[in-house]
Amino acid sequence: MKIAVLAGDGIGPEIVAQAVQVLEALRSDGLKFELESGLLGGCAVDATGEPFPEATRKLVAAADAVLLGAVGGPQYDTLSREQRPERGLLAIRKALNLFANLRPAVLYPELVNASTLKPEVVAGLDILIVRELTGDIYFGEPRGIEWRNGQRVGFNTMIYSEVEIRRIAHVAFRAARKRSHRLCSVDKMNVLECTQLWREVVVETAVEYPDVELSHMLVDNAAMQLVRNPRQFDVIVTGNMFGDILSDEASMLTGSIGMLPSASLDDKNKGLYEPIHGSAPDIAGKDMANPLATILSVAMMLRYTFSQETAAARIEDAVKKVLAQGYRTGDIYESGMKKVGTTGMGGAVLANL
Ligand code: IPM
Ligand code: MG
Repeated sequence: MKIAVLAGDGIGPEIVAQAVQVLEALRSDGLKFELESGLLGGCAVDATGEPFPEATRKLVAAADAVLLGAVGGPQYDTLSREQRPERGLLAIRKALNLFANLRPAVLYPELVNASTLKPEVVAGLDILIVRELTGDIYFGEPRGIEWRNGQRVGFNTMIYSEVEIRRIAHVAFRAARKRSHRLCSVDKMNVLECTQLWREVVVETAVEYPDVELSHMLVDNAAMQLVRNPRQFDVIVTGNMFGDILSDEASMLTGSIGMLPSASLDDKNKGLYEPIHGSAPDIAGKDMANPLATILSVAMMLRYTFSQETAAARIEDAVKKVLAQGYRTGDIYESGMKKVGTTGMGGAVLANL
């Protein structure tokens, strides 16, 4: 197994170090892998002038999986759009054709009070958001800012082909089959033609999955339902932009965005694994960041790319134990618990492995 490690910016290097330690510990189970590091995002701009340099492009093309920390930081805000760290992230997703983004939002029972929502609304929450990741308004052309009739206009293009919609729909239906056989597709078909096609193609695809109960929801309603009664959802499938927004919203149901891993897969289960949170420059280098989302991303990597279910479950069990033992980073801390930093949390997971 060849794993490319891209720590990125801000808290990226700290949280990735903890996740790599967990991975290294699994060598004793007979897992064989090679790790190779590369640059992505702001650190890559600093070193090479580009957020996704050629060396990294080669590294990730040759790897079976990529472990990513986070990219971005205020010092890069004044760069041109081409050089922005986020552009590196979008480019790697596109280059590897990682169209299927799986974002589970699971509330651990120990963290039921860490959510800003009432325990009776969120207890037992277990949602999977399947976000399309290489299309939509993120990549659509034409795009730009230009002068028209003496004023500036900004424009982007929301566009999906039926092939793109169908392949993400299949991923979502298959995921629903492994869970409660319920799938909710989110669109804005009352206003946008692009998402009208989305709904049509999802309905056509559903014919192949008669055992999955398909429902549809408009995105504004879905945003409301996620905080009103989130447990009505099991698997949600949606486009790139709606998925970006809804997955941040869903993360807060679980108490902290610092807990949530993600997988971005191509059609052969090659994948990029990253926490869904950002680079948190305000706490970078302070040993404060929660490494659990990155550690749980390693578990997803073992499960989805390498089919190592036992090793994946071992990591997830260790995380559950650490929470049960009361270890908490600042983002999930409540009084009476054992407050730890990034390294303390990583060490606790290691001890439980
Ligand atoms: C995410 C992030 C990215 C996105 C940004 C950093 C480009 O918000 O992974 O959700 O919008 O996809
Ligand atoms: Mg986002």
